[in-house]
Amino acid sequence: MKKWFAVIGDPIAQSKSPEMHNAWYEQEKVDATYIPVHVKPENLQQAVASFKLLGASGWNVTIPHKQTIIPFLDELDELAKKMGAVNTVVRTADGKLKGYNTDGPGFVKSLEAAIGTSKRTEPVLLIGAGGAARGIAFALQMVGYKNITIANRTVEKAQRIVDEMNAGVAITIQQAEENLDTYRIFIQTTPAGMSTGDFALPFSLEKFPTGAIAADIVYNPLMTPFLQAAEQKGATIVNGLGMFVHQGAIAYEHWLGNYPNTNAMIARLTEQLG
Ligand code: ATR
Repeated sequence: MKKWFAVIGDPIAQSKSPEMHNAWYEQEKVDATYIPVHVKPENLQQAVASFKLLGASGWNVTIPHKQTIIPFLDELDELAKKMGAVNTVVRTADGKLKGYNTDGPGFVKSLEAAIGTSKRTEPVLLIGAGGAARGIAFALQMVGYKNITIANRTVEKAQRIVDEMNAGVAITIQQAEENLDTYRIFIQTTPAGMSTGDFALPFSLEKFPTGAIAADIVYNPLMTPFLQAAEQKGATIVNGLGMFVHQGAIAYEHWLGNYPNTNAMIARLTEQLG
C-alpha cells in the first residue's frame, strides 16, 4: 500500500520539504507521497489523532509545533528529549508515535560533508544561543566536538546552554570579536543576513582568521554577509542549505531505512535559490 508522510506547521505553504521528499521517493522508487498540512495551534492534538487514524507513516513538524507536539507522542529519542523539541515523528511497527529531532544532527552532517570528521578537537565558535544554536551545540557534543564556545548578545542564554551541556564556555559578542582569531570553526545561527531579516551581522569580522571554516544556518540567501566576509578571508564555506537537506535525509532514513542522495538534492535546490 502507498505510504504517506507530511509536514505540519503554521504557516506551511513556504516549506520546501514536500518537494524534497517527493523527489526522493521518485528517485528511490518508493511508493509514497508527502504533503504539506496547515495545522493551527488549537488543532494540533486533533491533527495528531487524525494522522494516526489515517495511517501516516510519519511526518515532520515545524514552527510553531515543535515543542507543543510532545505531550501527544508516545516516546522520544534521547536528543529530542534533551531538546524538548521534535521535528520528526515516526510511527513505529507497533503503532506508537516516536519523536526525533534531526535539526542539529542535520547541521553536523552538512558541516562534516564539507570538512570531514577529523576536526572535532578544533575550537568552535557558535554565534547565537536560540533554539537552533542549542540543537547544534548538543549535536556537536554528541558526535565528540570537544571545544565549543557560545557567543551571544544575551550571554545568560549562552551560559544556560553551556550549563546544560556541562561543557564549553559562554561569552559576549564583544569578547568573541576580540578573540576571533583563536577559533577555527565558526557557526552563525542568528537570523543575520536572512532575506526577510532587518539587521546585519551582529559582530565585526575584523579579526577573523585566514583559512578557517565558516558555516551559516541561513539558506535564503545562500551567501549571507557572514559567509561573504569569511570567504574573503579564505574560509571554507558551508551554507545553510545542507542543514535543511540533511535534517530531511535523516528523517527519511528513520522512516524508510536508507539515506537518500543529498548531493543531488543540494544541487537542485541551490539552482532554485541561486
Ligand atoms: P532560533 O530558534 O531560530 O535559533 P531564536 O531563538 O529567536 O531563533 O534565536 C535568535 C538568536 O539570534 C539569538 O541568539 C539572538 O540573540 P539574543 O539571545 O540576545 O536575543 C540572536 N539575535 C537576534 N537578533 C539579533 C540582533 N539584532 N543582534 C544580535 N543577535 C541577535
